Amino acid sequence: MYDLEKIRKQFPMLNNKQMQGHKLVYLDNASTTFKPQFVIDAVKKYYEEETANHHRGDYDLLFNMDKRVQDTRITVSKFLNCEPNEVVFTAGDTMGLNLIALAYTFQYLKKGDEILVSEAEHASNLLPWYQASHITGAVIKFIPLDKDGVLTVDNLKKVITDKTKVVSVAQVSNVLGNVVDVKAFAKIAHEHGAVLVVDGAQSAPHMKIDFKDMDIDFLTISGHKMCAPTGIGCLIGKYELLQDMQPYYVGGGMNVTFNKETEMIPYDAPMKFEAGTQNIAGICGLKAAIEFLMELGIDNIHQHDRELCDYAISKLEKCDDIIIYNKNARNGIITFNRKGVFAQDEATLLNSKGIAVRSGQHCAKVLNDYLGTVATVRMSTYLYTSKEEIDAFLDAVINGGDILDAYFN
Ligand code: ALA
Repeated sequence: MYDLEKIRKQFPMLNNKQMQGHKLVYLDNASTTFKPQFVIDAVKKYYEEETANHHRGDYDLLFNMDKRVQDTRITVSKFLNCEPNEVVFTAGDTMGLNLIALAYTFQYLKKGDEILVSEAEHASNLLPWYQASHITGAVIKFIPLDKDGVLTVDNLKKVITDKTKVVSVAQVSNVLGNVVDVKAFAKIAHEHGAVLVVDGAQSAPHMKIDFKDMDIDFLTISGHKMCAPTGIGCLIGKYELLQDMQPYYVGGGMNVTFNKETEMIPYDAPMKFEAGTQNIAGICGLKAAIEFLMELGIDNIHQHDRELCDYAISKLEKCDDIIIYNKNARNGIITFNRKGVFAQDEATLLNSKGIAVRSGQHCAKVLNDYLGTVATVRMSTYLYTSKEEIDAFLDAVINGGDILDAYFN
């Protein structure tokens, strides 16, 4: 059973925290999530009782941490259905995408090749590919969104060619919240000799990802969007693809040996991509967070987000002055504007009532043309969001009063 009261008790940030004299209603979970006490404790325990730098010595403290790091790879592999040696620890989703783009820039792409992305991508999944394009002469092409903001298989088929080397898309857009059918995308990409890169920052926290069954080539996730600490994430890659990729980020811990002739022999994947001391405290926190998500059941979390979104959209739809940009998405993200009101003013009004939402372009800066606006307001839920919080949000949006009150009260 999904016991929301019990879940909420585990999050210190939900314990009567105030904002602007109101009980905080946190609806910016697509940006980052709160951490349960046991994740905080896992990090604290590492610093207070377990500190050691893994695989760099011969004593028990360190062996224990070696085991924890390996156990975390196993936990991630169970969560996403991949192999433990396909899990590379990164600083987050952005680093993972940069690592893949660097390999494609220096090993695989040439002038005239094509990289397919969408207009809905976050900066983290566009800018690394823009750099790849500038350096190699490969061409960036955009898969168009359909009228509902969905990235469809039909639209992928319209733009993919045999020159396409990479298809790189977010499984769930951080603005529109729509889900891409990545299994179908993988099939089409592979038929054209391309790899499929999936930015899972917004999907992994909310829905089941089966890396093997979906036949994804590379997947990136961010811990902090799924109750883990900031600064820890994973790049998951098919083992043979990881083995073929050179490490472009190098240093201690990733090599078997090197010599004065400037030669270096890297370890096998995943360690060859983990240069320097890793965010070990973050790895401990990630393990605790993923175990928690698996205990709750990712399908239950998904269902919870959907129910809250269904409810909020059913109320917002009745407001003549609210434009909803993703009515059909229902994946924990609602993006909207009030007619005639700049998004930041709306967010400021909500802030004055204790409600935290994000406004602006949400790092997806090429989506403006599609949306026909320069900024939007985004509310986003997570596994601990309550119906009462949605009611407080709806009340503020629907009966919030004059925007100017937020500035001058
Ligand atoms: N990627 C985060 C967001 O969408 C920061 O808000």
